[in-house]
Formats: sequence, C-alpha cells, structure tokens
Amino acid sequence: MPVDVIQSVKLDDEKNALILLDQTLLPNEKVFLELTKVEGIWDAIYELKVRGAPAIGIAAAYGVYLGTKMSKAENYDQLYEDFKKVKDYFATSRPTAVNLFWALDRMEARFKKEAGKTAVEVKQALKEEADLIRAEDEKVCEAIGRYALSLLKPGMGLLTHCNAGTIATAKYGTALAPIYLGQQQGYNFKVYADETRPLLQGARLTAWELQEAGVDVTLICDNMASIVMKEGKIQAVLVGCDRVAANGDAANKIGTSGVAILAKHYNIPFYVCAPLSTVDLNCNTGADIHIELRPGEEITKKWYEKPMAPEGVKTYNPAFDVTDNELITAIITENGIAYPPYTESLPKMFKKE
Ligand code: MRU
Repeated sequence: MPVDVIQSVKLDDEKNALILLDQTLLPNEKVFLELTKVEGIWDAIYELKVRGAPAIGIAAAYGVYLGTKMSKAENYDQLYEDFKKVKDYFATSRPTAVNLFWALDRMEARFKKEAGKTAVEVKQALKEEADLIRAEDEKVCEAIGRYALSLLKPGMGLLTHCNAGTIATAKYGTALAPIYLGQQQGYNFKVYADETRPLLQGARLTAWELQEAGVDVTLICDNMASIVMKEGKIQAVLVGCDRVAANGDAANKIGTSGVAILAKHYNIPFYVCAPLSTVDLNCNTGADIHIELRPGEEITKKWYEKPMAPEGVKTYNPAFDVTDNELITAIITENGIAYPPYTESLPKMFKKE
C-alpha cells in the first residue's frame, strides 16, 4: 500500500463521526472506528487507538469540533461554555505530547476570533480550523522530510524508534518522511526499526507501514540497537518527538534517550524530527515536561495469553523519556534545521513562519 493511501484520522461530517484507524489492532487487523461521542474519542486517544503527537492533535481538534457541534446552545456565549467543557476534557487524555494542547488552544483561538457570530457560523469555523490543522500537518511533514533528506546519503542504514510515520500524522510522518521521500528518489535506505517495548509501536506500526510501502526494513528488539551500531549498519538515527523544550531537550517514546546515548558512543548522528507544533518554548528544559505514566499491565500482561511476569510484581511504566540536548545532533523542523545551541536556533525557526 503506498503511503498516500493510509489515512489514520479523518472526519465524516455527514455522519458526525471521527474515523480512526485502530492502531492497537495493527498489523493483524485494519479496522476503522466510527466515533461519534467525545467519550469514545477521548478513550481512543488514551488507549492509543490514535497515537503519535501530530495525529493526537488532529483527533482532538476534530473531537472538540464534533463535541461542540452536538451542543444545543443558541448563542455564542452559551456555545463557548460547551466548547470549553469539551476542550478541557480532551486536555486530560494524554499529558506529554504538546501537540494535543497546541491543537486545542488553536481551536479556542479560532472560536474567539468568531466572536459575535451565530452558533452555526462558529461551528462551521471550528470545522474549518480542524481541517486546516490536518492539511497543514501534511505540508509540515513533507517539509521536514525534505530537510531531513538533505542530511542523508543514498544507501545509508537508518535506525528509528517507536513510530513517527504516516499513521502518526496527517501524511508522511516526521522521522519516516525522509525515508518515504528518499524512496521516491531511489535512495535505497536500509531501515532498522526498534520494536519499542512495551507497546511495540516499532514492530507493529513502523515495520508494518514501511513494509507496506516497499521500504527495506529490518525489525530488531530494543536491546539490539547497540550491536547494529557496532557492526556499522547504522549511519544515522531518526526519531520523532512529543515535546521539545526551549533548550532542545526532547521527550519521545521511552527508550529514545538510550538510543541517543548509544549513538553518541558510536559517533552516529542523532536527529530529532519535530514540527514546530511539538516545540514548547514555555518549557525551559526537559525537567519541565510531564512524563505520562501508564498502567503496569502494559509490561506484565499485554502480549501473551499468560502473564509475562510474576503476579503482583511492582512495575514502573513511564511512556516517554527525555533525550538531553547535548546528545541531539540537530532538530529538524518544517522551517529548517536547528543546530545547537538550541536556545538560540529554535526561536529562529518560529520567526521564519
Ligand atoms: O505513545 P505514542 O505511541 O503516542 O508515542 C509516540 C511517539 O513517541 C512518537 O515518536 C512521537 O509522537 C512522534 S509521532 C510523529
């Protein structure tokens, strides 16, 4: 299946439904959920049926539109009260990816821009804004792909962690975008995908979507990243991101920082691909980023019929970790490539808009 065909988040406005590719069932089943209730959309975000920072933002934008559309409020102020409730509700779904809050704030800004309009007009404006967020993400990912590709050479071996691919965004992905663009141009990358415990986004999602697109992909367990680097199979690491702090510290899927430490050891460039919607200049450092803690059952019970660990064992399951900025060779945005010191280069990326 070419990358263009997979659409993990879309709106069916006539049915008042958000259509989500259920990412928890991949690669075994390709099921599209038709969600009409805000509670169902909230659950889908929490349970990672829709996941990946940009896709979470797009889903929440459509969710807040659909929730507001259901409101019976007849005037602007009453509608705003209902909008605010739905917005605040979605803000509780997942804490780390700043794209969720960015998208919700953007929807609120659009609501406020429509002050004085009728409820029908405001609802239409919210749909337009959610559509824009989606359409812009596609362009943003393509631009990230072009900048990232400029750092790579044909035939390179690339390592990626988690899934920052087309299904995590509107299209192309962030870290996988240069791989797709490179493939169109005959770069013949050899991609290594970390399986990404505990939820296996690398095995279930990255390996699946790259294989579907005909990319040369090899799946490895997380603890094999070091050996493939040592054996000279990897010339660059590309990862996505959930939140970049002002100093360049970057939160991404648990295990990313370990990969960055290995890359430093083996002198391999480590690139973080991040749309500006993922850059949070209000967070000074990674220490300010809220790391999501998830249920221990994801570690002990998830993938086998029988428990994978002794009953009652204590668990610790942070879903993300923070890669220190000094381990990051560059942060690739839609407006260009930011190099250290990030406190200087990241604000310049926003000024280019
Ligand atoms: O918990 P997830 O699967 O939502 O985590 C996703 C990641 O860590 C991705 O790398 C990140 O969101 C970037 S997606 C373009």
